Amino acid sequence: MLIDSHAHLDMDDFDADRDKVLERAAQGGITHIITMGIDGESSIAALKLSQEYDFVYAAVGYHPHSADECETGDLDALRSMASEPEIVAWGEIGLDYYRGYSSPEAQQRIFSRQLEIADDLNLPVIIHDREAHDDVFEMLKKMGKGEKKGVIHCFSGDTDLAMAFLDLGYYISIPGTVTYKKAYHVKEVASAIPLESMLIETDAPFLAPVPKRGKRNEPAFVSFTAHEIARLRNIDFEEVARRTSENAKNLFGLPG
Ligand code: NI
Repeated sequence: MLIDSHAHLDMDDFDADRDKVLERAAQGGITHIITMGIDGESSIAALKLSQEYDFVYAAVGYHPHSADECETGDLDALRSMASEPEIVAWGEIGLDYYRGYSSPEAQQRIFSRQLEIADDLNLPVIIHDREAHDDVFEMLKKMGKGEKKGVIHCFSGDTDLAMAFLDLGYYISIPGTVTYKKAYHVKEVASAIPLESMLIETDAPFLAPVPKRGKRNEPAFVSFTAHEIARLRNIDFEEVARRTSENAKNLFGLPG
């Protein structure tokens, strides 16, 4: 039993064989998948998929890449979707100074607004932080400490930063990159943080773990990530699976 806490199932990478991909996930013991919204259109698509497939749940949100094109009315539209029972989080949202597809000012404005909406709706947030550690941390800190505030997806910082996010009430999600030979930081974080604060994810179709590196990623491959975490911590795969699944159920209020 495993939960993929972060995937992009609506992306056209899956158009040709989405049914098969989800069948393989179910056969591989994946009990729940959270699929992300990155703008208005993909949030609607995520909701649709969650209504179509029993074990798929959705998040709605505007990714920092789309911040420049996001208008107030767009967030209102997402807000009204968020009452659907399949929507279990607000995301993926955050800051990305690496790609810089949108201006930092717009990214910060849209991120901050979405943090407030999610807080209003009492939904956990799914955070994207790429080369923006200080600003993301400061903005989350402003939202205050609390239990089950959300998750830092595809965590790319060091162990000190991970601990600081945990202290604010966030989970850390370990992606498939933990299987990469030279991913020293993420291996260290995956070894060091308490298991009760850890989620696992694919970020499919991106970042396929070894031995699928370079190929399209899919939810079933989250097992490679769990195996590597078990190896690093010198514990059983089953323990990683059970604990990370419990965490995801707690954070997102998933049934089962
Ligand atoms: Ni993502």
